[in-house]
Amino acid sequence: MQVILRQLGDCMVRRAELSDLIPIMEINLKTLPEHYSDYFYESLLAEVPEAFIVAEINGRHVGYVMCKTEYGFSNFKKLGFVKKGHVVSIAVLDEFRKRGIGKALVEESTNGIILKKCDEFYLEVRCSNTEAVRLYEKSGFSIKQQLNAYYRDGEDAFLMAIEFDK
Ligand SMILES: CC(C)(COP(=O)(O)OP(=O)(O)OC[C@H]1O[C@@H](n2cnc3c(N)ncnc32)[C@H](O)[C@@H]1OP(=O)(O)O)[C@@H](O)C(=O)NCCC(=O)NCCS
Repeated sequence: MQVILRQLGDCMVRRAELSDLIPIMEINLKTLPEHYSDYFYESLLAEVPEAFIVAEINGRHVGYVMCKTEYGFSNFKKLGFVKKGHVVSIAVLDEFRKRGIGKALVEESTNGIILKKCDEFYLEVRCSNTEAVRLYEKSGFSIKQQLNAYYRDGEDAFLMAIEFDK
């Protein structure tokens, strides 16, 4: 059964299912230089379905976000290990940008990560990707670190994170 999270005009934002993975991989290939194996998509869907979300307009897949969860050191000033959500990948097809779909995907994946009882949610973003940095800031993330030569082509990343009250 489909889990519909919100309707944004003609755009349905819902949890992804196995049958969505091929169209999601196609969006990934068109929009981002970082690609993943089929198995990786399937494992994220199996492990964190709450934060694997797709946007669809009239049956066409136009965007997605997928995340994982892990234990590790806090990005804030807490001592010890915390449970963290991690945005692995998010994209909206070029022709459907700037209508709030990206923001809806970030917000719904944040809700999913809260459901997974994480303490924090974080992501890496290219320092040059001002569009994405602004979107994350609007959604409550702040820049915590700059990661040197994080990407294969040598570009730095910002590590951005949001902390949840428990
Ligand atoms: C980053 C990305 C996901 C944003 O998606 P998006 O759907 O365009 O995001 P939104 O529409 O929510 O917000 C983008 C802008 O559109 C504006 N916007 C939202 N609704 C709007 C509307 N109805 N009319 C006009 N503008 C609107 C937002 O205010 C925002 O503007 P700002 O950047 O000046 O603050 C998209 O650009 C993308 O896929 N980029 C390529 C992949 C990528 O870089 N992924 C991130 C890797 S970390």
